[in-house]
Amino acid sequence: MTPAEGPRALGVDIGGSGIKGALVDLERGELAVERLRLETPQPATPEAVIATAAEVIRFFDADGPIGIGLPAAIVGGQVMTAANLDGAWIGTSAETLFTAAVGRPCTVLNDADAAGLAEMRFGAGAGVSGVVLVLTLGTGIGSALFLDGRLVPNTELGHIEVRGKDAELRAAASVRKAKKLSMEAWAERLDEYIDRVDQLLWPDLIILGGGISRRADEFVHLLTPRPRVVPAGLQNEAGIVGAALRAAELPAIRAEATRRGRRPASGAR
Ligand code: BGC
Repeated sequence: MTPAEGPRALGVDIGGSGIKGALVDLERGELAVERLRLETPQPATPEAVIATAAEVIRFFDADGPIGIGLPAAIVGGQVMTAANLDGAWIGTSAETLFTAAVGRPCTVLNDADAAGLAEMRFGAGAGVSGVVLVLTLGTGIGSALFLDGRLVPNTELGHIEVRGKDAELRAAASVRKAKKLSMEAWAERLDEYIDRVDQLLWPDLIILGGGISRRADEFVHLLTPRPRVVPAGLQNEAGIVGAALRAAELPAIRAEATRRGRRPASGAR
């Protein structure tokens, strides 16, 4: 680290189509270097994905914390679901596997939770209290729920049912492409999904992220939501920034929990 550089950590965002990583400037909440993106191997088995992610990590050849966002519910470093990954992930200790492959400690969390953490710190949710929901629209739909800036992890709201179907199979950004839907037709599906989520959580603010948030001006005005809905501030980089943030801050979060005498519930961290 040169004197002009602030603290940095490495963030990796594993998605259905790409594995992206970069060194993150933790004070500015932005990428400190150009990101590297490699295709997500198919089938996205633990071995193949971990090998590709390790390649991304080695490319940056940096010390310091490593955070990895994975599109799955992660409890105590363990993978609980695998909607857009190979089923062989379920039950694996992702954190242990990444750490062994890279040879340095890795922190693993849900990809949407990572994006949400970045949005709440540096993006559209900065300074916002109350109930905030971050939705990432990509291969699937990810969700990150915050109360007064604190994350409720692993909400998996992309999998609520809408019209008898898993919601992300109707309204994820990938569905628009796969079904060649017009922006209007897709926005109608997204609008219905947002209404359903609203009726469950009544959030004060919804932040829409994922790659499609770059094109927010083409669809946000088509939505008719009750709560305020805004595009993500960090767009598709939020996942990388948030994973790095989490990895850098986890020791302090754990120390604070210990100081308060809080004992994690079994399986939690
Ligand atoms: C997964 C979530 C993930 C989301 C976005 C869903 O299919 O179940 O864990 O956050 O996709 O990648």
